[in-house]
Amino acid sequence: MPENQNQAQLIFRPMITSDLDQVTAIDRAAFPTPWPKDAFLYEIKRGRNSVCWVAEQAASDGENQIVASIVIWLVIDETHIGTLAVRPGFRGQKIGQKLLALSLLECLQRGARQALLEVRQSNLAAQALYRKFGFEAVGLRKDYYKDTHEDAVLMTLDALDLEKLAQLAQGG
Ligand SMILES: CC(C)(COP(=O)(O)OP(=O)(O)OC[C@H]1O[C@@H](n2cnc3c(N)ncnc32)[C@H](O)[C@@H]1OP(=O)(O)O)[C@@H](O)C(=O)NCCC(=O)NCCS
Repeated sequence: MPENQNQAQLIFRPMITSDLDQVTAIDRAAFPTPWPKDAFLYEIKRGRNSVCWVAEQAASDGENQIVASIVIWLVIDETHIGTLAVRPGFRGQKIGQKLLALSLLECLQRGARQALLEVRQSNLAAQALYRKFGFEAVGLRKDYYKDTHEDAVLMTLDALDLEKLAQLAQGG
């Protein structure tokens, strides 16, 4: 699908409980060990301690579709990206990039200054996305994923940059 198709109809907003059936379906399609619905519900309720957002595609019949979701934990001035997934069929259109950038901008506004995450060593697409944001691989967490016994790459971003995030949020 060409980049930017339907982009004008995309809405990025905080996750609400009525999104959760679609959010968990996206998570199931993305990960061997998806989060249960209750885990997302818990994060939504944590309020100021987490940022839970979705990308929603507006449809002319009014039946909007959730196409991506993210959960980020906030710990004082540090953010930890818990999960990020784009619905298959909607990948490669900068939706993941925009959702991550807008969520990190929200974190920055709430006082976060740096970010970290774990990503499967085999997940080169996600690692490329994070490198585009300036994340750097700083170590491995051995046997981190109990389902496949895969190692996690630990990636950190030392300084959240307002201008860079704003540019990434525009698809740059
Ligand atoms: C990883 C994921 C979130 C990326 O979202 P996306 O909307 O498809 O990616 P985007 O279109 O926003 O891509 C932005 C950048 O990410 C990188 N990227 C994304 N997909 C890539 C791929 N398949 N191969 C290489 N780089 C890729 C590129 O740097 C890209 O920038 P560019 O288009 O200027 O080259 C999505 O593929 C996904 O949901 N994967 C399954 C779940 C997952 O792995 N989540 C991350 C867990 S840590």
